[in-house]
Amino acid sequence: EGFLPFEHEPYFNFKDEQVAERQRAAFTQVREQYLGRTFPLIVNGQEVQGEGTFDVRNPADTREIVWSFQQATPAQLNEAVKAAQAAFEEWRFTEPFQRATIFKRAAELLRARRMEFNAVMTLENGKNWFEADGEVAESVDHFEVFARETMRWATGKPVYPMPDEHVTTVYEPLGVVACISPWNFPSAIPLGMALGALAAGNTVLWKPASETPLSSYLMIELLFEAGLPRGTVQFLTGTDDVLGDPLVDHPGVRMIAFTGSKEIGCRIYERAARVQPGQKWLKRVIAEMGGKDPTVVCADGDLEAAATGIVQAAFGYSGQKCSACSRVIVEESVYDDLLARVVEKARGLKVGLPEENADLGPVITQGSAERITKYVQEGQGRVRLLLGGETPDVGERVGGYVAPTILADVPADDALFQEEIFGPVLAFTKARDWQHAIELANDSEYGLTAAFYSRDPRKIDEARKKIHVGNLYVNRKCTGALSGTHAFGGYGMSGTNAKVGGPDYLFWFLQTKTIAQRY
Ligand code: NAD
Ligand code: ALA
Repeated sequence: EGFLPFEHEPYFNFKDEQVAERQRAAFTQVREQYLGRTFPLIVNGQEVQGEGTFDVRNPADTREIVWSFQQATPAQLNEAVKAAQAAFEEWRFTEPFQRATIFKRAAELLRARRMEFNAVMTLENGKNWFEADGEVAESVDHFEVFARETMRWATGKPVYPMPDEHVTTVYEPLGVVACISPWNFPSAIPLGMALGALAAGNTVLWKPASETPLSSYLMIELLFEAGLPRGTVQFLTGTDDVLGDPLVDHPGVRMIAFTGSKEIGCRIYERAARVQPGQKWLKRVIAEMGGKDPTVVCADGDLEAAATGIVQAAFGYSGQKCSACSRVIVEESVYDDLLARVVEKARGLKVGLPEENADLGPVITQGSAERITKYVQEGQGRVRLLLGGETPDVGERVGGYVAPTILADVPADDALFQEEIFGPVLAFTKARDWQHAIELANDSEYGLTAAFYSRDPRKIDEARKKIHVGNLYVNRKCTGALSGTHAFGGYGMSGTNAKVGGPDYLFWFLQTKTIAQRY
């Protein structure tokens, strides 16, 4: 009962100079506290060294090494699986209320350290203050939501009665869950998957992306401080040849919760299907993958609101979100008008240092910038380039800086329309009418998010029924799902549709036991 009132964590108002000053101070503190340090693995509750270390670089200037992490060995992977299995035997029987209490306490601890977590994220993956703050606030929400979900799933569900038996349906955890996460949401994504596992009574092998391990390490330490038994989470960093296939293939792993690219998600799905010697279960897999998310704008829609939503969703964090708007599909009669508005707004965006809260920082690596730029260069012969295409001037800094880029008249069979570019590149496509626009929106192997702008209830109704995505947003932007409210996960090749932060998420981490008893 005490858990019931809920409010999403409010964002900081960085326009208030005092708040901005606190965020600047947090960068100073983080640099003093963590810069140059080497962090351990956590196996069986102990801090241990691996075999060699790797450096994490500041994407805003890749000459700067911010901190270093361990490369786990195959033996340490085995040890971590064993330790997680051992810890499972206790954690699985803990009272749900105890788990929920730990998550509530963790929410309080994180609230007090939000700016520190923001600063760490900015230095690892180049998010500006707003984007980092949005994600850390989402992490607080996750703690609050999963505390409540733990209690909601603690009791079984009613069954149809029969006269001479007492029958119950109860939910039990699975075992060891490997949580494998990407660099673009280094706080909320690994946390969401790990909390799903832990809330249900499983134990966790936590494998962050190598670009962003400190965001994970600090979150795990915070969970331990909140009272989580140390054995319940094993923290493993290192190379994909040790922690990729071998982690997925390990016969001691019961479930894999993955968020990342389509390529790796499909690989995991396939490999996990093979029963390994000594394995006593069919592995369960959650694989949440990429997107090519459309915004559909009908002629009767609010063009100004649409333009604002599109610019935020396409260029926030330089378009490096699975949820980012990368296709705009517009009815012919308002195409030029909308295009002009979006170009005008995007032209005002400044590329620069995320630590100084520039609108767009760097993309994650120079390699990624080259890949994105190649799409634009190759596309130029086929489509109209209206904005971007040049390398932004960021002075001496070495990083993958890419200007906001808008391409018009992109045909549906073009790579720019079909492939996930994962950068600040937006494709405009003309539709004959609004029904054609919906068809074009669905012309994709992905189906993660979409936005639809119209004032006509009939069109909205059709969009609600026909747009093939897991997250449809009507008259608002297609990014910024909130935990507990906008259950997140896609259709098609966007993945298994596990819906993190939603009412059924915990079911993925549970198995169901029916007990029929006679007296
Ligand atoms: P990625 O697939 O390259 O890496 C994700 C994780 O998988 C990393 O931790 C990586 O080390 C690990 N990995 C690599 N090889 C592996 C293997 N063989 N077996 C197991 N794990 C392995 O993705 P990324 O570049 O970090 O992230 C960007 C991608 O993530 C984009 O495609 C984006 O759309 C997607 N994404 C999806 C969602 C969603 O909720 N659907 C959210 C965020 C990001
Ligand atoms: N959950 C993130 C969003 O909705 C990816 O933007």
